[in-house]
Amino acid sequence: MAQVGFDGVTKRFGDTTAVDELTLQVLDGELLVLLGSSGCGKTTALRLVAGLEALTAGRVTIGDRVVNDIDPKDRDVAMVFQSYALYPHLTVAKNIEFPLRQRGAGKEERSAKVKQAAETLGLASLLDRKPAQLSGGQRQRVALARAIVREPLVFLMDEPLSNLDAALRVQTRADIVELQARLNTTTLYVTHDQVEAMTMGHRIAVMNEGRLQQVATPEDLYARPTNVFVAHFLGSPGMNLVEGLLVEGSGNETTGGEDTLCVSFLGASVPLPAEVATDVRGSGPDVVLGLRPETLHLSTDGPIAATVIIVELLGAETLVICRTETGARIIVRQPASAARPSIGDAVRIAVDPEPRAYHLFDAESGLRLGDRP
Ligand SMILES: Nc1ncnc2c1ncn2[C@@H]1O[C@H](COP(=O)(O)OP(=O)(O)OP(=O)(O)O)[C@@H](O)[C@H]1O
Ligand SMILES: [Mg+2]
Repeated sequence: MAQVGFDGVTKRFGDTTAVDELTLQVLDGELLVLLGSSGCGKTTALRLVAGLEALTAGRVTIGDRVVNDIDPKDRDVAMVFQSYALYPHLTVAKNIEFPLRQRGAGKEERSAKVKQAAETLGLASLLDRKPAQLSGGQRQRVALARAIVREPLVFLMDEPLSNLDAALRVQTRADIVELQARLNTTTLYVTHDQVEAMTMGHRIAVMNEGRLQQVATPEDLYARPTNVFVAHFLGSPGMNLVEGLLVEGSGNETTGGEDTLCVSFLGASVPLPAEVATDVRGSGPDVVLGLRPETLHLSTDGPIAATVIIVELLGAETLVICRTETGARIIVRQPASAARPSIGDAVRIAVDPEPRAYHLFDAESGLRLGDRP
């Protein structure tokens, strides 16, 4: 077992900075997900740990060893790729035992380890087939089996589920989580899929344009995104982000008072819950207000006037997509049991009166307000 450390790691390809001063620790036994959109540097970060790219600056450590100058084969990591990378002419058994052969392991050891890995991953009946005779999910499980027989210090997984169909992805995702928990092997898992990240990661590191934005547990990332980018990236659908203005003491008559802090947005002015007001007072006045779809609801006395433009039924819940009078597009997520409006209906939207409903960011820097260092 081992930790993996990035210490001020930068990787440039010509003018492109693929990874920009990344500092991050993957803890011993942790499944850490590296999450970000295409081109943000996820694969490059993995390849730097595997030794498949040379660093431009910084240090990569595995355990307590700086591995910058260590040969890939001596780093004791196993990488699983999106494309499976199986040998087409070899059987499943021969594919799985390949790294053991390379290491010069004897026949008995090889067959014992192949058997164990095949049982773990439900491949026991497929050992004599060639990759072409397998489904995508089975191929990916062979690739996982080939990684686990090596008993590496670290697993590096680069979007291993992205070639699978939706149902298989959910199943294989659970298999990987279970496998990782059982083996307790430090794992760095790359994906651009935030649902995958939320369901798999002990912690998630969000990257954008080569830079680390935030690293936190899925719960914390969702509850307290550190900037507008993370706020928008996490959540399905993402947070509604609107321009707002912080105003002292101009709430409605019932709640308003000298010490009430309000936020004006979308033609409404709403007093902030006391906890939120304490956190953000003195900031602004220009802010970005983030409202998750599930903390909004339709209510006849809601402060925001809007028209329904799309209603999406998702089974257990409904997404009501509205256009406000001010021209913004706002998504409200309601349980299927709630009264469902029709397209074209004039509605009013209200924000749940809970502190967690209000995410406030500085309009200029995009940073979360009230985050104490
Ligand atoms: N060998 C290379 N030569 C030049 N530029 C590269 C090379 N590898 C990656 N890049 C660039 O570095 C940036 C990061 O690439 P990387 O493959 O790490 O992104 P990614 O986050 O894995 O994206 P995706 O989700 O599409 O796989 C991109 O702009 C990419 O074009
Ligand atoms: Mg990639």
